[in-house]
Amino acid sequence: MVSLIIGSQWGDEGKGKIVDLLSEKQDLVVRFHGGNNAGHTVIANGKKYPFHLMPSGILHKKVAGVIANGTVLDLDVLVSEIEMLQKDGYKLEGKLLISDRCHIIMPYHKAMDEAMENARGKNKLGTTKRGIGPALADKVSYNGIRLYELLNWPQFEEKFKFQTEIKNKILKVFKVKPINIVDELAKFKILMEFIEPFITDTYQVIKKGVKEKENILFEGAHGVMLDNDFGPYPYVTGSNVITGAVNTGSGLPVKDMKEVWAVVKAYTSRVGEGPFPTELSGKLADSIREKGAEYGTTTGRPRRVGWLDLEAVKFALEVTGTTNIAITKIDVLSGLDEIKVCTGYKYKGKDIPYSSCGYVELEKVEPVYEAFKGWQKNIDGVKSESKLPKEAKAYLKFIEKFLGVKIGIISTGPAREEYIKY
Ligand code: GDP
Ligand code: IMO
Ligand code: MG
Repeated sequence: MVSLIIGSQWGDEGKGKIVDLLSEKQDLVVRFHGGNNAGHTVIANGKKYPFHLMPSGILHKKVAGVIANGTVLDLDVLVSEIEMLQKDGYKLEGKLLISDRCHIIMPYHKAMDEAMENARGKNKLGTTKRGIGPALADKVSYNGIRLYELLNWPQFEEKFKFQTEIKNKILKVFKVKPINIVDELAKFKILMEFIEPFITDTYQVIKKGVKEKENILFEGAHGVMLDNDFGPYPYVTGSNVITGAVNTGSGLPVKDMKEVWAVVKAYTSRVGEGPFPTELSGKLADSIREKGAEYGTTTGRPRRVGWLDLEAVKFALEVTGTTNIAITKIDVLSGLDEIKVCTGYKYKGKDIPYSSCGYVELEKVEPVYEAFKGWQKNIDGVKSESKLPKEAKAYLKFIEKFLGVKIGIISTGPAREEYIKY
């Protein structure tokens, strides 16, 4: 069985937890797009792992983690995650497989991401400043450098010098300190030696897995509302988040994808700037943020929070061909008197679907809300449906009916075992 997990909102839906949960039965867990702008939290055996590049299923004994060609890599982050796991006794040789087609996030990409954000001033996008946009821009304009070059050192050295000299001229325009070529090359030499044993042709690994009917789980990053084409551009990320990204990002033939799980947080969160139709403010927002520990896994920034936006989620499910839903963080909503859900948008007095909105419309739409009675009972970590208050059940039933896709998992806490099979 080949399946995919995608984020259906603005990221941080709890994908890491659900990937880990579903990984018990997997042979391969594959990252295929994005980079270390992602932050996927796994809490297993009492320990918390905030993964940025490591496939979130890696903690399971049987699972091999694949980082396929579509992922862009900051090698410092990659090495520190490998070291973190090795320190905890995980043996990663033969268990972590990285494509030589992955593009490298260079020091000048990070510097340019930061410089552009600063230059945008009040129009900043709120990127993670991890160099994602500049690295992907270099990829599509044939200026990227891949792990493939790193393994062919003379070519790497030549390309790195050429690109850095050009980027340093651009950085000068921004009045940013230039990148030191000699120092960085010395660092890359050490990084190269460290990661070389993990680099392989991941296309063949996935092809063999499909042929041998292995269970393969593709781990999506970010969320559909951050998709470079289908999010409110430019308040998006650099990669495509939707199902097709698996094909381009790993080489898996489209026909082989059998199941798509959308992770839906029971409310909405967003880090970074840009429109957020159901955003809340004041005490209510603060209490949801605190209860839900809504602080960025990658940057530590407080996340903006709001009601569940089913107009946007419905679009996400349609465009990704979602077959199953995992609802997360329903426990965070306990204690509220009333819970609202957005079921559509009005723009200038008329209905407007999410797909017709650019960022200008999305900033101005008026959400149409359905209100639900809240519940006071603490449901942290409950494992059976019968323990859910009737109000929580009504809320979940409404979501399932509105979206027209079956809920398969209800997550009731951050740890691996805190969920209800639905
Ligand atoms: P991801 O990027 O989609 O993997 O999500 P993050 O890991 O960035 O953010 C989700 C946060 O919510 C993490 O701190 C998780 O440990 C936590 N989390 C996941 N599922 C649940 C849940 O059902 N309830 C609660 N309270 N926390 C959860
Ligand atoms: P996970 O996988 C939340 C957001 C950033 C910013 C925009 C562009 O953990 O859900 P970028 O650094 O990608 O150029 O920033 O995209 N963003 C995320 N927000 N979770 C993520 O990943 C994100 N990945 C990118 O906050 O608004
Ligand atoms: Mg995250």
